[in-house]
Amino acid sequence: MDFNLTEEHIMIRDAARDFAQTELLPGVIERDNAQTFPESLVRKMGELGFLGVMVDPKYGGSGMDAISYVLIMEELSKIDASASVMVSVNNSLVCYGLESYANEAQKEKYLTKLAKGEIIGAFCLSEPEAGSDATSQKTTAIDMGDHYLLNGTKNWITNGGRAGVYLVIAQTDKDKGHKGINAFILEKGMPGFDIGPKEDKLGIRGSDTHTLQFNDVKVPKENRIGEDGFGFKFAMKTLSGGRIGIAAQALGIAAGAYELALKYSKERKAFGTEICNHQAIAFKLADMATEIEAARMLVMKAAWDKDQGNNYDMSSAMAKLYASQVAMTHTVEAVQIHGGNGFVKDYHVERLMRDAKITQIYEGTSEIQKIVISRGIIKG
Ligand code: CAA
Repeated sequence: MDFNLTEEHIMIRDAARDFAQTELLPGVIERDNAQTFPESLVRKMGELGFLGVMVDPKYGGSGMDAISYVLIMEELSKIDASASVMVSVNNSLVCYGLESYANEAQKEKYLTKLAKGEIIGAFCLSEPEAGSDATSQKTTAIDMGDHYLLNGTKNWITNGGRAGVYLVIAQTDKDKGHKGINAFILEKGMPGFDIGPKEDKLGIRGSDTHTLQFNDVKVPKENRIGEDGFGFKFAMKTLSGGRIGIAAQALGIAAGAYELALKYSKERKAFGTEICNHQAIAFKLADMATEIEAARMLVMKAAWDKDQGNNYDMSSAMAKLYASQVAMTHTVEAVQIHGGNGFVKDYHVERLMRDAKITQIYEGTSEIQKIVISRGIIKG
C-alpha cells in the first residue's frame, strides 16, 4: 500500500490549485451574489483539460485517472464549488456516460466537444415526482418508428441553461418498470425543448440550475444510448462515478473552510493570545483535520477502486455520505471559529457553509447513499 501521490498527480493537483487561486478566487463572491459564471472561465477549464479529465485523448480528453480527477475536484472546490459542480457533471455523468455506453457515432458527434469543454453537458434524471425514487420516471418517450416523442419535465438540472448536450432519462414502456426506461441525447434548441428560469439557490449559486420542459420533442432513434431498456442501469452506473466527484467536491469544501479557519485562528487574538492557543479552538481544528483526512481516504479509495476496475458502488456511496457530512459539520465550525467575521461574505466561510449543504442532497441524498451501502453489505 502506497499513500504517496505520484509526481504526475502532484503536478496535476498543483495546476488545479494554481488555477483556483489565480482564476477562480478573484470574483468568487461577486459571482455568488450575481448567480453567474462567465464562459471565459469555462473555456479556460476546458483548455486545462479539467472538463474531460478521464476521457481517452482520442476523444479530446486528458486521459488521466480517477485519482487525478478527485485531486482536481478537491482543489477547485476549496475555492469555488459552483465551478467544480460543472466540472463534476460534465466529467463523471456526461463524458463518462457517453464514453462507456454510447456508440462510436455518438461519441464522435458529442464526446470530443464535451471533453474539450467546447460545449457543456447536463444529466437529466430528476423530476418533480422522481428525485430519490428515480425509477418513477414520468417523462415519457414514445417509440414512433424512426424517432421517439418526448414529453415531460425535469428539474434541478445542473448546467441546465449553459449546456449544449443533455442526457435525458425517460420512460418508454411503463409496464416494464425500470426495464422500460431509456437514456437519450438531446441538443439545445430542439423544437419543443424549453428551458425554464434559473433557480435562486442557497448555495453553489454560480452554477446554473433549471427546470426543463419537453413538449412533443422529436428525438431521432440514433440518439438512444445503448440497448432498449438500458436507461435506468445507465443512470445508476453513471451516478456511481458521479458520487466520487461529489464526494471530492464535499472534501474540497471542507478542506477549504478548514484552511481558512486555521489561518484565521493563527492571526486573530482574544484574551491576549492568538485564538488557536485556546483549547476550545484548537480542539475544533483537531477534529476538522482528523475528519477531513478520513474523508480524503474514503474519496481516494473510491477513486482507486474505479482506476483498478473494482466495483465502486459502495465505496463511492460511503465516500459521498461521509465527505458531505464532514463538509456540513466543519464549514459550520469554520464559521464559528471566525465569529462575527464568519457571518460576512468577505471571509468566504459562510459561502462554503451554504455550498456544503447540496453535497448531502444531489447525486443521491445521504439517505439514498445509506440504501446503497446497506443493500451492498447485506448482499455481501
Ligand atoms: N449499477 C447497475 N445496476 C444497478 C445499480 C448500479 N449501481 N443500482 C441499481 N441497479 C439496477 C438493479 O440491479 C435493478 O436491476 P434488476 O432488476 O435487473 O436487478 C434496477 O437497477 C433497479 O434497482 P433497485 O431495485 O435497487 O431500484 P430502487 O427503485 O430500489 O432504487 C436507488 C434504487 C438506489 C434508490 C435509486 O433509485 C437511486 O439511486 N436513487 C437516487 C437517484 C439520484 O441519485 N439522483 C440524483 C440526480 S442526478 C444529479 O443530482 C446530477 C446533478 O445535477 C448534480
